[in-house]
Amino acid sequence: MDKFLITGATGNVGLSTMRYLLEQKDADFEVVGAVRDVEAARKMEGLEQAQLVNFEFDEPSTHAEALNGVTKLLLIRPNQVSDVSKHIFPFLNEVEKSGVKHIVFVSIVGAERNRVFANHRIETHLKKMGIPHTIVRPSLYMQNLVTLHGQEIRKNSHLYIPAGAGMVNYIDARDVARVVVELLTKPGHEGKEYEITGQEPMDFYKIAALFTTELGREIKYARPLTIKFIRQKMLEKKQMPFIVTLSLLYGAARNGKMGHTSSVFKELTGSEPRQLVDFIHENRKVWKK
Ligand SMILES: NC(=O)c1ccc[n+]([C@@H]2O[C@H](COP(=O)([O-])OP(=O)(O)OC[C@H]3O[C@@H](n4cnc5c(N)ncnc54)[C@H](OP(=O)(O)O)[C@@H]3O)[C@@H](O)[C@H]2O)c1
Repeated sequence: MDKFLITGATGNVGLSTMRYLLEQKDADFEVVGAVRDVEAARKMEGLEQAQLVNFEFDEPSTHAEALNGVTKLLLIRPNQVSDVSKHIFPFLNEVEKSGVKHIVFVSIVGAERNRVFANHRIETHLKKMGIPHTIVRPSLYMQNLVTLHGQEIRKNSHLYIPAGAGMVNYIDARDVARVVVELLTKPGHEGKEYEITGQEPMDFYKIAALFTTELGREIKYARPLTIKFIRQKMLEKKQMPFIVTLSLLYGAARNGKMGHTSSVFKELTGSEPRQLVDFIHENRKVWKK
């Protein structure tokens, strides 16, 4: 019987992956969530009865127990970890010595061609390892509009994003998890790389208009220049790797690299990915004044 280890099990994709896997009746696999704080994780909806193990990428003493008996690994790099050779590769060295036979890695759209992305370095490292793996490259997560931009939308009624007139095709992190579940539970995905997006590319003028309609007050697209965006985020005391990554991602959108639609979600799951308009409706309380 397979045993899955889910890293990032309390985050956007990992938590939904845990929930979807644990929902499956008569499952012929075991699921373990790798978490930094077992007690806190246990209070999260869906994890109350889950098998959880204490795990920190940068704490080697937690690795062996977390990997005990594991055959498949979901690897998620936490956003704040940018020096992957120091914080992720030592864990991957342990994975190589373990019984893991398949790694599913959640990377990001464009990581294959963008050497400065931390996820690019993980992709390259995985290719050098002897373990079969699958790389998923999702487009931007709808959840960013809550976590990264929620406060400015609520307080300032604007989207402060340096993407010019470029398009993005947001995907719901829960849909990324649905794809991950397919990759972990169905055979034949080893050695594959999948890009996944939402259903419809939109520029931020259109996205602002969706917010305006849902919230009943005007939400503007502020469209700052990248340099102004960087200065603003520095004033907000955000970490430099985070500011650089966001600037690169929105720069890619501005240069027309984020506006495509992939059919992979439908091919793998048989259904359409969630729509942004529905996500905004579902989470409307976050942005209400
Ligand atoms: N946001 C986007 O638009 C987007 C799009 C495509 C791909 N991605 C990629 O998705 C990844 C992030 O995934 P996510 O959004 O699902 O994660 P997330 O919501 O940011 O959560 C991060 C997870 O990692 C855990 N974590 C943090 N530091 C850790 C450490 N030192 N050791 C072990 N676990 C640790 C956190 O646990 P705690 O609960 O203990 O903090 C949490 O479970 C990044 O690699 C990013 O590049 C993001």
